[in-house]
Amino acid sequence: MKNSNLYDQVIRVNCPATVANLVCGFDILGMALNAPQDTIEMRLLDRREIIIRHSDHYDLPTEPARNVAGAALIDLLEEVEEPVGFELTIRKHIKPGSGLGSSAASSAGAVVGANHLLGNRFNNNDLVRFAMAGEKVATGVKHADNIAPCIMGGVTLIRSIFPLDIVQLTAPPMYVTVVHPQIEVKTADARQILRKEVLLKNAIKQWGNIAGLVAGFLQKDYDLIGRSLEDVIIEPVRSILIPGFDEVKQGSRNHGALGGGISGSGPSIFMMSKDEAVAQKVEALMKETYTQLGIDFKTYITTLNEKGATVEVVA
Ligand code: HSE
Repeated sequence: MKNSNLYDQVIRVNCPATVANLVCGFDILGMALNAPQDTIEMRLLDRREIIIRHSDHYDLPTEPARNVAGAALIDLLEEVEEPVGFELTIRKHIKPGSGLGSSAASSAGAVVGANHLLGNRFNNNDLVRFAMAGEKVATGVKHADNIAPCIMGGVTLIRSIFPLDIVQLTAPPMYVTVVHPQIEVKTADARQILRKEVLLKNAIKQWGNIAGLVAGFLQKDYDLIGRSLEDVIIEPVRSILIPGFDEVKQGSRNHGALGGGISGSGPSIFMMSKDEAVAQKVEALMKETYTQLGIDFKTYITTLNEKGATVEVVA
């Protein structure tokens, strides 16, 4: 029998990996994946304190203000009158710095869990707002393209951050193949190298692709999705940091993938496919490419996660 007293409850939050940008939508598009996922075990404290532990080997900070989950919870507690706090144990399977929304999984997962423990008093926009404090700690900038899909699931469009305006998009079923070459690309560095100005002709191409991608998702038009997965602004600069990028991207298309590119700020690369058989061919190509380059890697074949972060009561 589950205990209904929120102070006695121990919950587990499953926090999905996310792919930010979706190639052409820098800082405005993102999707949640079914693998990998972090977990956070959490309970409510009857005093204003945040206690963070990690049960993984990444040696991340536990001081709340320096921890992405802690920073998000500090923002959330500012809007809670009762003298409560949280104790959480984070287990990461999404490697920090992978480009798969590792920091978002912790900050979004923490606020989803906190909201459950507080009787679900906040809406999704509130949760995204709190969790963005974690992204600020991780990257120096508030952006929601990992946070929003991690909380809401599926594909999300961040039309605006200030004020927050998030649109959830429907999308057809798709397989996503991911390769995470084990090299480090810090998001802050991958943002620093971007040019601050954009040529109008490139902006026009990018607007066409973003609109095409959104329309492709809504109309379940795989060909339109594939044609729109093109980035003429960010990818040409960032892909230089990722050995094997061009081979994986071109080879995947040759195998029938719809398309793909850098996941978030990299170094992971994701490719979308309509069929599982194509997703498997893409994975084989990714493995071959990084084996030949002599770079360690991890691959995943997964699908779109429709639910976002979920809460289970474990005690
Ligand atoms: N939109 C962000 C970027 C995602 O590409 O820098 C990084 O987490």
